[in-house]
Amino acid sequence: MNGRWTEPVDPKSLPESRLLQALSGHVPDRTPIWMMRQAGRYLPEYRELRARAGDFLTLCYTPDYAAEVTLQPIRRFGFDAAILFSDILVVPHALGCGLAFEAGEGPRLETITSSSDLARLSSRLDPEKIDRVYEAVAKVRTGLPAETALLGFCGAPWTVATYMVAGRGTDDQMPARLAALNDPVFFGALIDRLVEASSLYLIGQLRAGADAVQIFDTWSGVLDPEGFRRWTIGPIARIVRAVRASVPQARIIAFPKGATLSGLIELATTAGVDAVGLDWTADRRGVRAALGGRCALQGNLDPLRLIAGGHALDKGIDALMEDFRGAAHIFNLGHGIRPETPIAHVEQMLRRVRGF
Ligand code: CP3
Repeated sequence: MNGRWTEPVDPKSLPESRLLQALSGHVPDRTPIWMMRQAGRYLPEYRELRARAGDFLTLCYTPDYAAEVTLQPIRRFGFDAAILFSDILVVPHALGCGLAFEAGEGPRLETITSSSDLARLSSRLDPEKIDRVYEAVAKVRTGLPAETALLGFCGAPWTVATYMVAGRGTDDQMPARLAALNDPVFFGALIDRLVEASSLYLIGQLRAGADAVQIFDTWSGVLDPEGFRRWTIGPIARIVRAVRASVPQARIIAFPKGATLSGLIELATTAGVDAVGLDWTADRRGVRAALGGRCALQGNLDPLRLIAGGHALDKGIDALMEDFRGAAHIFNLGHGIRPETPIAHVEQMLRRVRGF
């Protein structure tokens, strides 16, 4: 199977971007590559601008800064896609949920644990905040060549809700899992609010110039099969429907980290996404056999191989490229790049994937 699920087309009518070619089911002349968290602390130019901005949220809400940080990894490495520099927690923040990023501590949010907490939040996104994000999208698009796709994104409602309920990151997301079981009325209403806000947020990014969007469900792997269906697949499927109702050609990638093979298959078929993102534990051949003719496959190098470098890195890349040869594949890591990753290893990866 060559991975193409749309009708054969005249190659001249294909989009210039290899990433968009793969998202429409074509196998590009070489595998497109980008990295989750490609703008970030492993880059000295990021650390320098971050220090100048003083605060992470200032970086996110200042269009010139956000655009600059988005473009840094493109200038340095020439990835096939830029991903908007922002954060998934901008959505709760723009709904009125207090948010701060303490240096070295991760995010701290006002906790939302009951229907009365939820009633205090706005039902619309604060334009003072999100219009700045859209402005950054428009700025980046004008600074990018046509062959480089611009990705917008949001967090999946489940993952965003885990941070809102706990007020911070936790190891196993116990607070949100318990809230979903003990108070499904509250929890369902929280998810509904996030479905609606995230749909509008993605539509805004696509209208501002994003070529495709990714929905990050970083914590879907802690759910049992019923929970995965209800809190990961359901909300993502509703977002996809709402976005396509406004932007019919929208290209959408879902990244359900930690999903099982059957979870991935059910998500892709139910939600009708254009690609699924795979973490490094995914059964690549199983996923390809089930979904290779239906959507693009993105992933899934273990980010620790990128820290290790050398033979461990080359071997991981070769196995991955072999498993997805001839498929509509977008090369990526199985999760975000870690801050301690040497830049030389990113260069080694790019040379190997591109074959020079
Ligand atoms: O991928 C990119 O380069 C685009 C920008 C981006 C960031 N966060 C920047 C960021 C994206 C797409 C995200 C998504 C995000 N944010 C997720 C989902 C993906 C994933 O990695 O699992 C989650 C769960 C968050 C929430 C979040 N933001 C946490 C838990 C933290 C602290 C821990 C950490 O990794 O630093 C952040 C902060 C954050 N978001 C940083 C960056 C570059 C580091 C902030 C700093 O400079 O100190």
